[in-house]
Amino acid sequence: MRYDDASYLTRWQRGEGFPSIHDNLYALADKHLRGTPHRSFCDLCCSTALLGQRFLEGYPGSRVCGIEGLASSVDQARAVGVAYPILNRMVTPATLSEVALWWQTHRVDVLLARRCLPEIFAADRSWGPRFVASAVLSGVKVFVVQGRVPTSRATHPIPDIDAEIAVLGPGLRLVEKAGQCAVLVPVT
Ligand SMILES: C[S@@+](CC[C@H](N)C(=O)[O-])C[C@H]1O[C@@H](n2cnc3c(N)ncnc32)[C@H](O)[C@@H]1O
Repeated sequence: MRYDDASYLTRWQRGEGFPSIHDNLYALADKHLRGTPHRSFCDLCCSTALLGQRFLEGYPGSRVCGIEGLASSVDQARAVGVAYPILNRMVTPATLSEVALWWQTHRVDVLLARRCLPEIFAADRSWGPRFVASAVLSGVKVFVVQGRVPTSRATHPIPDIDAEIAVLGPGLRLVEKAGQCAVLVPVT
């Protein structure tokens, strides 16, 4: 089933929970964030926004915002009642300053990026460190990422979590990697 299958939204609307495709990222994030003061999440490439919604419900008192390039996904999220603000914008070098302003406006300190960085950086991996520097300057203190499922015949330039970590560059330190998920923090 695709990550944006409409049945995920229907099930959430009926109170039947969140997509299990998000379980691994949520569990790793939760292991590192529960009990810490981090309370403003940005779900980057949020699609129909259920990962961010899961953090909103799982962390009472938290704030969540999202960014998604595909307008129809944002519309789907809003139509079913996802309540947090979503910036409908493609994240590119040209929009980075606007994205940074969004992070600052929402005081984002945790960036969630599930199956997102391979999309953003597929065409050009060179601006990963600039992306990280901008996020850190905007207040992001924790990056939680999940990469593509590795396959033996992968042709994508960012095929797995190790490649994603490499794209992000030397400004981040790996705290934990679990399967295709990782938690990273800025190098101080
Ligand atoms: C593989 S999906 C993952 C969606 C969601 N993070 C999840 O795990 O369920 C990638 C998403 O990134 C969005 N996307 C692709 N390139 C983007 C970009 N440069 N800026 C913002 N969103 C982008 C796509 O529209 C799609 O919704």
